[in-house]
Amino acid sequence: MAEKDILTGQDKDTLLKGHDADGILEFDNDMPMWWLIGFIFTVVFAFGYIIQYHMADGPSSKQEYEQEVAAFNKSKEPAGAQEQVAIAVLTDSASLEAGKTIFNGSTNTCFTCHRNDLGGMVGPNLTDEFWIHGGDLKAIMTSIKIGYPDKGMQPFGTNARLSDRQVLQVASFILSMKGSNPANPKPIDPAREVKFVPEAEKAMAAGEKPKDEKAAKDAKVVAKKAEPVAQAKATKK
Ligand code: HEC
Repeated sequence: MAEKDILTGQDKDTLLKGHDADGILEFDNDMPMWWLIGFIFTVVFAFGYIIQYHMADGPSSKQEYEQEVAAFNKSKEPAGAQEQVAIAVLTDSASLEAGKTIFNGSTNTCFTCHRNDLGGMVGPNLTDEFWIHGGDLKAIMTSIKIGYPDKGMQPFGTNARLSDRQVLQVASFILSMKGSNPANPKPIDPAREVKFVPEAEKAMAAGEKPKDEKAAKDAKVVAKKAEPVAQAKATKK
């Protein structure tokens, strides 16, 4: 108990005189080293803080707040939302592979309704020439974007928001599978599915055939087989 203080040379455990709070007395000891180190650290830190945030250009609280709000708003946009994508069928293997990944991924789960081979199950066969909502790139992209919630298909698949580029990739992938004749496809619904022939569309637009879907179907719209999307096929292995 008679340890001396290194600074004062006094006994460590001397009582502080004249300091009595309701009978509670205090020893006059040094502060513990861990406490002193912490205290010195705060002093040093304060200098660093003052220099960084008050003298240099460290962001103010307001700027930090604004940055966080901006970052949050950005995180809500789908990746590449600002990107303007040209609506043209993608045929490079990287894009088709990306489309395939989206189609078979666990967030969009297109495959659960359309099957991995696109032969159709809950949703229609996407490899044949018959389409309910149109079989050109634009129509397919629209189908993916708006979905058919009353039939079970959410916009952009089950629960993911896709960027325009991703929609284009998955639509291009679908077109690349055209004519792949998967085994046991979902049967065509003759009441709703219409043979989609690019030439026929043009002919109809030119007024040669009625524009009405049913009539178009019945009128054996151009017997000619639909030109498979030649480019898309070219890159398919
Ligand atoms: C929960 C089931 C379900 C999921 C998941 C789903 N679809 Fe569909 N999809 C359907 C159904 C059902 C239809 C038919 C809508 C109708 O009858 O009008 C359809 C229609 C379509 C069509 C239009 C077909 C046509 O004949 O015009 C396209 C293209 C399509 N889906 C692509 C996709 C893509 C791409 C995804 C993933 C991003 C996807 N679907 C996810 C059920 C689904």
